[in-house]
Amino acid sequence: SKERLQALKDLVLEGIPASDKDDLLLAKGLDYHTIVKWGDAISDTDTFGFNNDYTCFIPFDENNPKDGLLWVNHEYVNQLFVSDFDYRAFDNPKAHRTKAQVDKEMYNVGGSIIRIKEENGIWQVVQNDPHNRRITAQTDIALNWDAPIKGKTSVKGTLANCSGGITPWKTFITCEENYDGFFGETEYDDNNVESHRNSGYGWENFYNYPPEHYGWVVEVNPKDGKAQKHIALGRFAHECCTLYELEDKRVVAYTGDDHNDEHLYKFVSSKPGSLKEGTLYVADTINGQWLALDYENQPVLKAKFKNQTEVLIRAREAAKLIGATPLNRPEDIEIDPITGHIFITLTNNKPKGDHHGSILKIVETNGAFDALTFKSSTYIAGGTENGFSCPDNLAFDMAGNLWITTDMSGGAMNRTDKPYMAFKNNSLFVIPRLGKDAGKVIRVASAPKDAELTGPWFSPDGKTLFLSVQHPGEQTKDLSNPTSTWPFDKDNIPKPAVVAITGDLIEKMNHLNKLEG
Ligand code: FEO
Ligand code: CA
Ligand code: CA
Ligand code: CA
Repeated sequence: SKERLQALKDLVLEGIPASDKDDLLLAKGLDYHTIVKWGDAISDTDTFGFNNDYTCFIPFDENNPKDGLLWVNHEYVNQLFVSDFDYRAFDNPKAHRTKAQVDKEMYNVGGSIIRIKEENGIWQVVQNDPHNRRITAQTDIALNWDAPIKGKTSVKGTLANCSGGITPWKTFITCEENYDGFFGETEYDDNNVESHRNSGYGWENFYNYPPEHYGWVVEVNPKDGKAQKHIALGRFAHECCTLYELEDKRVVAYTGDDHNDEHLYKFVSSKPGSLKEGTLYVADTINGQWLALDYENQPVLKAKFKNQTEVLIRAREAAKLIGATPLNRPEDIEIDPITGHIFITLTNNKPKGDHHGSILKIVETNGAFDALTFKSSTYIAGGTENGFSCPDNLAFDMAGNLWITTDMSGGAMNRTDKPYMAFKNNSLFVIPRLGKDAGKVIRVASAPKDAELTGPWFSPDGKTLFLSVQHPGEQTKDLSNPTSTWPFDKDNIPKPAVVAITGDLIEKMNHLNKLEG
């Protein structure tokens, strides 16, 4: 239509160059304001946690997109900031740890539920709203499973909360990713004999919580904060969980294991609205098959494990036994709202020489999300040619434009790792679906020093992009001289925060599909 053509012509999408400036830089047509940051009071008793990652927003009323509940993941802590513990100062740091430090760290992971409201274009926390609460590493959480896990049907806390999702029945999903950093991991030798691998944080020296209680997909009820862990979806380093409701109300859940050479999974429920009854599959991307992690019907699993519960706890080992394809760290997953194709970021696999990662596209047979076969292909590769490296989070807007955040972490963040030097700070990109820039990768935001932009999520009216600025100043060695001072508070201490990005550009890009006619 004329209107659509005009809208496309009017849309000036001027990207910004790579930058190493310590600031949140935005393309023309975008503005931001901070909604909440680490340490802010959200109620009389609770404060906002550290290293916010995934964000999602559910309005109270579908007819009012400006008032609702924001869920925010708190993935991990920087001990220098959170618990005033500088492990670099000790030859044997673990001998110097105190319970008080660990308690602070346990408080600062998990998630936050916060009521936010938009007035005159500004999103603000509704102070002391009864919904505002923290879920921490000490919150009681039920297990949605018929058998106990390490003797328990309810466990303490959630941690390593990286990305997540939302259920068709409008509850929050938060995923436990690198759980082994907190309470370690149980390992098995060739004779199936258990041993404990210690964690980096060393929480197991203060609390006797089994590693098997972590590494799950967790659902949180926005209304009362009650949480449950969905054992049927398997235990591994879940980046995210992306759900789809079939016509008969059964649920399909895609979830990736963000670790070198680990796998992509899909759960298909056998009952409407269930995340317990159903089958967990793992992808063989070579042959385009979903392989069932089903103890009863897989002799190779029966030979190794005691029962289905053990298969789920040791999902990585089980997946390898039935022939799952190793992938380059599958992270976020999104379903294209227009084509129904499934997009999965493969962030990188440095030991295999893949420094820049790619985005994998999966097309289920006949477009059926419960299909057992599919076709896969690389949608786009990272690297200098396309201008981005290490894709992590994805979000489709209402018009089907694809937004991508990057995570060049660790050594790459110092830009001493050669492959990453040209890319400078982590960024937010968009690939427009239509118009003259269709298919191009355009940088629209650049993160402060050492930070990663995570958890992109659009408000229901398509006018706001919620975004986490995670770990600014992460490489700081001395608090009096931090590597970042964003968000530029008087104390000069960098703080992870959730921002609202607004402006003409967001609004226009979200509403292009309405003009398609
Ligand atoms: Fe926590 Fe895979 O990023
Ligand atoms: Ca991530
Ligand atoms: Ca996402
Ligand atoms: Ca990542």
